[in-house]
Amino acid sequence: MDSDIVSSSVDRSQTAMPDALAFKSINDPIKNQINSCAAICVKQDDPCHFLRVLYESLITGGLAGVVVEAALYPIDTIKTRVQVARDGGKIIWKGLYSGLGANLVGVLPASALFFGVYEPTKQKLLKVLPENLSAVAHLAAGALGGAVSSIVRVPTEVVKQRMQTGQFVSAPDAVRLIIAKEGFGGMYAGYGSFLLRDLPFDALQFCVYEQLRIGYMLAARRDLNDPENAMIGAFAGAVTGVLTTPLDVIKTRLMVQGSGTQYKGVSDCIKTIIREEELRHCITGNGSKDIVDSSTTWNPTWTNRAAAEAETVASFSCSGHGRAFVDGLGVLDGQKPPCECNNCYIGKDCSVLLKDCPVDANSGDPLFLEPFWMRQAERSAVLVSGWHRMSYIYEDGTYVSRELEKVIRKLHSVVGNAVTDNRFVIFGSGTTQLLAAAVHALSLTNSSVSSPARLLTSIPYYAMYKDQAEFFDSAHLKFEGDASAWKQSGRNDNITQLIEVVTSPNNPDGKLKRAVLDGPNVKTLHDYAYYWPHFSPITHPVDEDLSLFSLSKTTGHAGSRFGWGLVKDKAIYEKMDRFIRLTSMGVSKETQLHVLQLLKVVVGDGGNEIFNFGYGAVKKRWETLNKIFSMSTRFSLQTIKPEYCNYFKKVREFTPSYAWVKCERPEDKNCYEIFRAAKITGRSGNVFGSEERFVRLSLIRSQDDFDQLIDMLKKFVYQEAVPSENFMYI
Ligand SMILES: Cc1ncc(COP(=O)(O)O)c(C=O)c1O
Repeated sequence: MDSDIVSSSVDRSQTAMPDALAFKSINDPIKNQINSCAAICVKQDDPCHFLRVLYESLITGGLAGVVVEAALYPIDTIKTRVQVARDGGKIIWKGLYSGLGANLVGVLPASALFFGVYEPTKQKLLKVLPENLSAVAHLAAGALGGAVSSIVRVPTEVVKQRMQTGQFVSAPDAVRLIIAKEGFGGMYAGYGSFLLRDLPFDALQFCVYEQLRIGYMLAARRDLNDPENAMIGAFAGAVTGVLTTPLDVIKTRLMVQGSGTQYKGVSDCIKTIIREEELRHCITGNGSKDIVDSSTTWNPTWTNRAAAEAETVASFSCSGHGRAFVDGLGVLDGQKPPCECNNCYIGKDCSVLLKDCPVDANSGDPLFLEPFWMRQAERSAVLVSGWHRMSYIYEDGTYVSRELEKVIRKLHSVVGNAVTDNRFVIFGSGTTQLLAAAVHALSLTNSSVSSPARLLTSIPYYAMYKDQAEFFDSAHLKFEGDASAWKQSGRNDNITQLIEVVTSPNNPDGKLKRAVLDGPNVKTLHDYAYYWPHFSPITHPVDEDLSLFSLSKTTGHAGSRFGWGLVKDKAIYEKMDRFIRLTSMGVSKETQLHVLQLLKVVVGDGGNEIFNFGYGAVKKRWETLNKIFSMSTRFSLQTIKPEYCNYFKKVREFTPSYAWVKCERPEDKNCYEIFRAAKITGRSGNVFGSEERFVRLSLIRSQDDFDQLIDMLKKFVYQEAVPSENFMYI
């Protein structure tokens, strides 16, 4: 089937010939004087005649448009899908009436407007122009009719084509989402190209139609019957369709892209199509190589709906104090995305800041990196299809994406923080799962029920080590606490299995740490969650038997639950792998895909952007904090000597994730409570095996959290330190 010719002609449905009207004019008293083109179309100079023509044109034109649109709509849908498909894209044959109802609502007034302008204009022009210029009257009337009706035709066409290409399922949704996301202008996307295609089309088609009829009648010396009029109409539509198809392709591409940026305008669209597709596509309107019946193939625009949804949600700024998410409450049911407000902000758009609201400086949720990822929206986004990696395993039978493994090795090589040669890479649902896997694997070596392996670490330590060991309550493992105390106690018999966890930089105090214990019975597990340039100078590439890293602190994506380990020993790796398999059968494939995309952004420029951003942000926070605490004798912060950073190639200060605050006054025994009374919630020192005289304040949460922390600290710390008139200097 020559779909191009059919499609191009049917697309004119909105301006279908009102044949009833044509016959009315032919059967009038002057029909026998067929000696002039103009005479066929012009009636007597009755003053009411103009209004009658206008009225009849509106009614008959509108009805004709609706009938033709309804009859030929499926062919028009196929035409639109063919024009949108690129090389190799396949055409879906389902939903060929998608958008018809809404379209008819627009077609009726559009056709009425067209003929309401076309007929009277034509008749006026035929009266004033010489007979041999009747074609000019038809051309001008067609173009004017097209221009006026475009006010209604363009939004109708935008909604129709975006429904035909599967971007929206209902017209009200389409209108709502287009206006929400692209503004009212979105309803007029591709207006220029529409006029570029439609004005020539309208002018040409009606001129060809009218001139052919005139010629036919002159030759036949009689009036035309219905089939003859229909044939001439179809022929005129086909000829005009062939001539204007390239313009139609451009119009469709621009209308369907909406606010997308694939084409920057008409000339860019032409150049891109010519450059990226073959010129014949522009002429035929078909970018696809094969058109197949398909229940198993896809609509090439299947991504558009997901993209539109994601972008609509992203466009909600929530006053900069919250965020809307695609999986927010009700969004998946098509509701407006609600704002999830940052701590202390309330209201529909998170614009109201609660006064004297308690500050959350507790968890290490690294939202300080969120602005970086918002800047990287395009590069970091992944679209997950419904059929994405449904299997448990990858092609090689493992749970591990080899692509991701490669990128992780590359990441360590660009940052220079770990040796990955001769190491197995193991993935886990966060370092949290890998810690359990590693302790399990290490504790199985030479331990027994009567002599379980002892888990030791340095105070202050990350509480998870103790909590996990106690929670799993394994016969093979016992949490023993401080490694230095064990060493000094002389309890080491060189037989009992010892597992020392070394956290470097340490949580909570940010210091670089080394193992305390050694001996044939000691296994060391290194937690390097914070060994990244945001927080610490990169002094050397670590080269340990077992090191763990966390995506949470590398990119800030704590919610993705991803971590990895570098393991030297095959037997340990296999035990850890078994643990991961038995507890979760590997890491989710969606997470691995997402992490791959994120880390590709990181390594893309050698980590330059993210680590400069991260270091800059935390450094600024530390400077602000130090300024405040430097005025206090009641509280002190940890200090760490600067070191040379191989990554930034300079000596730099440490910029730890947490302030490890000490309450110096003897009476301030419970530092956590002291801060809590000042409406700042941190984490007590005893959670880290340390004294209650310490409290940890998180510095890596959102900017709002940090700003609130600073505001409260200013009031609290400064009040105690300086006379009130000096407050303003901070
Ligand atoms: C030292 C340390 N290790 C591990 C983790 C847990 O990391 P993940 O989010 O990858 O489970 C944290 C989290 O704060 C941490 O501070």
